[in-house]
This record gives sequence, structure tokens and C-alpha cells, in this order.
Amino acid sequence: MTISIKTPEDIDGMRIAGRLGAEVLDYITPFVKAGVTTGELDRLCHEYMVNVQGTVPAPLNYAPPGYPPFPKAVCTSVNDVICHGIPGDKVLKNGDVVNIDVTVITKDGYHGDNSRMFFIGEPSKLARRLTDITYECMWLGIAKVKPGAHLGDIGHAIQQHAENAGYSVVREFCGHGIGKVFHEEPQVLHYGRPGTGEELKAGMIFTIEPMINAGRREIREMPDGWTIKTKDRSLSAQWEHMILVTETGYEVLTTSAGTPPPPAIAQPKDAVAA
Ligand code: MF3
Ligand code: CO
Ligand code: CO
Repeated sequence: MTISIKTPEDIDGMRIAGRLGAEVLDYITPFVKAGVTTGELDRLCHEYMVNVQGTVPAPLNYAPPGYPPFPKAVCTSVNDVICHGIPGDKVLKNGDVVNIDVTVITKDGYHGDNSRMFFIGEPSKLARRLTDITYECMWLGIAKVKPGAHLGDIGHAIQQHAENAGYSVVREFCGHGIGKVFHEEPQVLHYGRPGTGEELKAGMIFTIEPMINAGRREIREMPDGWTIKTKDRSLSAQWEHMILVTETGYEVLTTSAGTPPPPAIAQPKDAVAA
């Protein structure tokens, strides 16, 4: 398999795409509250991308082999929805947890892909812990990124932390290389063994986006062709950042004014989260 090494020009373009992707999440944050529909959140994000940023939503009409065209601009995955929830007339209510996954395409053709979790009102203890552990999983994976490390190091760090907490890792979906193409090599599994898989090299760009279930890891696909839920109806959480492998470690590309800080468990020591 061939993992592309980005040129300096590509990296500049991906920094811009990453910031713009993160800024859509900053923008939508105050609107994510009880009474709003997921369709309204989609409409607001879409208008912000097109009218304020001059970006285009990558999900809209995205149709990988075997999938119908995705009908909306962002993914909204509520409670037991693992990923790829389609925005619609669902009204968010107190106690819900929702992942909003945004991917912009810039005028230069670069993709900025990231997602965050949001609580509607006061979450249950379980929802808060699952969300926090999943955030730590993403960051423990990020902290493994440097030249000479292997993809399996990332997956192992994520799997170990999730399973130690009593949760499970979704296997059917993974992080991915990204650039002018939305989903490219490598596949970044969120489970694995240290020292296995492709070796990381400076200039690679990929996402880390663990999906962690409170219960069992098995999934159910909905008849809409996109929405993925937990088979056992347990809660699921996900966070996503886009990461550049640098000469000394990593750079998080999906950063903005509103990016939550790294958790204490994964405070960068020699690497810099730019
Ligand atoms: N943004 C998702 C990811 O992290 C992909 C969404 S594809 C869509 O890879 F069509 F569902 F939007
Ligand atoms: Co992604
Ligand atoms: Co995404």
C-alpha cells in the first residue's frame, strides 16, 4: 500500500482546511441545545461553510461504492448512533449526547475533517464518562504519532484505554488518510498491537476518530444506507482530529479558537499541538 507524503504546499492547504473545519464546529456550538432539530444544525453549518467560509461540505452527495449519496452537509449522531447519522427532523432534548462531524472542502480542494461531542443540558454520568474516555482515547492515539512509530501503536493505545474502562471499540469504521481525497490510505484502526502496521513518516496526514461504545462493539446498519447504531442500543461516542506527522512528532491540523484542550492524561511533552 502507498501512503502519500504531502508536499509543503499540500501541508499549507491542509492547515487551512483543518482550521476551517474546526471553525464550523466552533460556530455551531451555541446552537446545540434542547429544542433544536438536527436538520436545523445541518442547515446552519451548511450556510456558514458556503456563505461565510467559501467552503463546500464534503459529505453532501458523497457516495462511496455500495452507498447511496449522503443527503446532507454534516453528520449528526445522537445517543446510540455510532456514526453517519443523517440530519433531519429529530428534536434534541435534555440528556441527549450528539456527535457533529464536519468535513469542509476548501477552494484549493483540500479536506478538513473533524468531529466533537456535545451534551444537551445535563448528561448522565455514563454519557459524560463515555465521552471523556473517548476523548482521552483519541488523544492517547494522537500522542503516539511520530516518524518511526507504527499505526498499530495508535490502535493499541486507544483499545487499551477503552477496554480498561469497560467499553468497546467499533471495528467496522476507522480513521483514514486525507488530503485532496476525502478517504485515502492508510486505514487507521482504533485497535491493534504495538509495532504492527505501516510505519509513520513525516508528511503523512490522517484522521484519528475512535468510536467507543458503552456496551458491546457490534453495530446495526439502518435502512437509510448510512446511519450506524449500536446493536445493543448502548450509547456511543466519537471524537475526530486530523493529524500531520512532523519530523519530531505530530501537529493537530483541526484546531481553532474553540478546540478543547488535550486531556491531562495525554498532555503533550515533547510534541506540540499547534
Ligand atoms: N466525516 C466522516 C469521517 O470522519 C465521513 C462522513 S461520510 C458521510 O470520515 F457521507 F457520511 F458524510
Ligand atoms: Co474522518
Ligand atoms: Co469526520
